[in-house]
Amino acid sequence: MSKVRIEVVHDLSMSLGESPVWSVARRTLYWVDINRGAIYAWRPQDGGAPTRTELGEQVGCIALEDTGLVAAAASGILRLPENGEAERLADNPEWQKGRGNRFNDGRCDSAGRLWVGTIDADETSPTAALYRLDEEELTPCLTDIAISNGLAFSPDGRWLYHTDSLSRRILRYPFDLASGTLGEGRTWVDLDALELPGVPDGAAVDSEGCYWSALYDGGRIVRFSPDGDLMAEYEVPCPHPTMVAFGGADLRTLYITTATQHLDAEGKRRWPLAGSLFSLPAPVAGLRESVCRA
Ligand code: BGC
Ligand code: CA
Repeated sequence: MSKVRIEVVHDLSMSLGESPVWSVARRTLYWVDINRGAIYAWRPQDGGAPTRTELGEQVGCIALEDTGLVAAAASGILRLPENGEAERLADNPEWQKGRGNRFNDGRCDSAGRLWVGTIDADETSPTAALYRLDEEELTPCLTDIAISNGLAFSPDGRWLYHTDSLSRRILRYPFDLASGTLGEGRTWVDLDALELPGVPDGAAVDSEGCYWSALYDGGRIVRFSPDGDLMAEYEVPCPHPTMVAFGGADLRTLYITTATQHLDAEGKRRWPLAGSLFSLPAPVAGLRESVCRA
């Protein structure tokens, strides 16, 4: 386990902190608390507390737009301009009358399409899917998933990484950036074979093409080489890290969101920092996050 010092950036006791995204243009880190339907924004150079906006429904993930954000709320995908009214881009086909599978993890590819998956309402059965949004059209690309997570792209755009968390495997799909289509997926990392704990949750790829994965219920962040070899492990002071993002002026700060959900009273006593936003100095720079053009 690497000995790098992990710091608490904001102690927020989030229920399900998720989807950290750094905007290079705005020098701002955004993230969400899925269960509380909140979107946070924070500029490290300004110091102080983050701003917090409530959406009125759960929000699985966010992505950058030129002048604001796109949010995959439980019921559908919204464009949230910095100044102006929210606009609905697409409905969630797995959501009806306030029930169903909410949206979960997602991000944009470098052509500006939003990729976003859903999560089975009970987090047990393969009723969810991974969708691609282009020109306000939502297309299912992978189906029979229980918990869609870990979506990321290789720096050259040739591979799409994805995990159905419950399988404890991360798959890699040949990706055609021009058409936005996927080839046949293969298991790329198997947590069983590596004897790693927890399940693979959110991820980010660095400038060397290595994949950083938050092991939910594994209390650590792991870095895999492009060949799928385990390169480093970073312990987090709570069992449920959810996702990572590279940010800061040089993209060399790794931000980590975490959750208090799934901790009982004893767990919350034992892990008082659970639900915080953390950071650690990364040994390499990350990639600039792609902007949505949906
Ligand atoms: C989901 C959580 C889930 C976790 C671990 C997250 O992406 O939002 O609800 O418990 O993954 O699978
Ligand atoms: Ca996730």
